[in-house]
Amino acid sequence: MRKFVLGIVVTLGVLIIGGLAFMLLGFMPTNSKTAPPGIETHVAGMALDASMERHAARTGSPVPATDENLIDGMKIYTMNCSVCHGTLDYKASPLEHSFYPPPPQLVLEPIDDPDWHVFYAVTTGVRYTGMPAWDKALSEEDRWKVTEFLTHMEKLSPAVQEYWKNSYGVSPQPAGAHEHEGHGH
Ligand code: HEC
Repeated sequence: MRKFVLGIVVTLGVLIIGGLAFMLLGFMPTNSKTAPPGIETHVAGMALDASMERHAARTGSPVPATDENLIDGMKIYTMNCSVCHGTLDYKASPLEHSFYPPPPQLVLEPIDDPDWHVFYAVTTGVRYTGMPAWDKALSEEDRWKVTEFLTHMEKLSPAVQEYWKNSYGVSPQPAGAHEHEGHGH
């Protein structure tokens, strides 16, 4: 029994020292220009969803999805988010492949998460990625407005669609209308 425990301790020690040596001798890749392996994306995505399930408050939006609020959300998105998540003229961000992991292109591939999930992600950010926490940069009301816009992107009223078209030169499209070399989820 004693030897068995010692065996475990030695094995763990070797793994820790080996891991540290791997990193400190410079073998760890640090560039952000490669796509993460599928398994990593999959496991990290599951961990992120599970953490949100556990931590995010299931509040309904205090900001109703009126035309005016959705248009405000569109402007907030353009000012703060489109640089990483793609613009409302259906172009992918030029930085799409410059992050590890890459930012999802939220206009080309609208999200189908519930609004409490999106609000939590926007408010608290996503650790170990380029996704910032917006609680200091945007008011709570503005975070809800952009959340409502992102979760209603495929069910906008004709007036909001008209605003989109006039402002960004392209009419809002149904999902999948644009070919996009995405990275999946
Ligand atoms: C500097 C780049 C950058 C900016 C600016 C940015 N994001 Fe992100 N965002 C990211 C990255 C990278 C991810 C991917 C995180 C991951 O893989 O889990 C992400 C993920 C997300 C997600 C998905 C979270 C999930 O649960 O999978 C949402 C929603 C989101 N961002 C919304 C926004 C909104 C809204 C704004 C503007 C207020 C914004 N982002 C601004 C980089 C950015």
